[in-house]
Amino acid sequence: MVRSWKKERKRDIFYREAKKRGYRARSAFKLIDIQKRFKVIRKGDIVLDLGAAPGSWCQVTSEIVGSQGRVIGIDLVSIKPIDGVTFIIGDVTEEATKDRLRKMLGEKKIDVVLSDLSPKLSGVKTLDHARSIWLAECAFGYAKDFLKKGGNFVCKVFEGEDLDKFKRNLRSFFSTVKCYNPKASRKYSSEIYIIAKTFKQKNI
Ligand SMILES: C[S@@+](CC[C@H](N)C(=O)[O-])C[C@H]1O[C@@H](n2cnc3c(N)ncnc32)[C@H](O)[C@@H]1O
Repeated sequence: MVRSWKKERKRDIFYREAKKRGYRARSAFKLIDIQKRFKVIRKGDIVLDLGAAPGSWCQVTSEIVGSQGRVIGIDLVSIKPIDGVTFIIGDVTEEATKDRLRKMLGEKKIDVVLSDLSPKLSGVKTLDHARSIWLAECAFGYAKDFLKKGGNFVCKVFEGEDLDKFKRNLRSFFSTVKCYNPKASRKYSSEIYIIAKTFKQKNI
């Protein structure tokens, strides 16, 4: 069983390419694909990456923003250092984590909020969907609190009945909201990425 999983991984083109290019996970190619198509991140940007471990999105992002930019990653688990990236080990659902970010940023606002947050999968589709919507709502909370006017938000969710409501909610805060399935997403996965561009403003 373990051997066949390992064999499958070796055959996976994104896994092999990630190893070759020094990315920590094949999911790097999901962000590369999203960036190529939607141009969400620019050189010099300040980017927040939620659910950042093991760090491949941070690696890709720090390449894009360059030395003038800044990348902050948050995750429950610790992440091996990456040049130019600051990490917060914490739970995004807890206000204390937001407070630590607030202190770190001072008066500064963020250009892009990325969220690849995933709940621990139970295999029960409706439950996994509900948990992923909860994490997506938390990520949206970070976007509302920290994004600059005109900023962008990318967020993973698992498809299900509450997805439309979540998108409708995003539409009142962003000029465009689109869904995208990156090529590196596994065929059997119900994950989908929401690309919300041009943050209007918090209307409260
Ligand atoms: C799919 S992985 C992210 C992969 C990452 N984008 C990369 O390319 O390296 C999802 C991450 O979400 C994190 N996560 C899940 N719930 C979280 C929470 N409440 N607070 C912080 N991180 C969380 C997990 O620990 C996991 O590392």
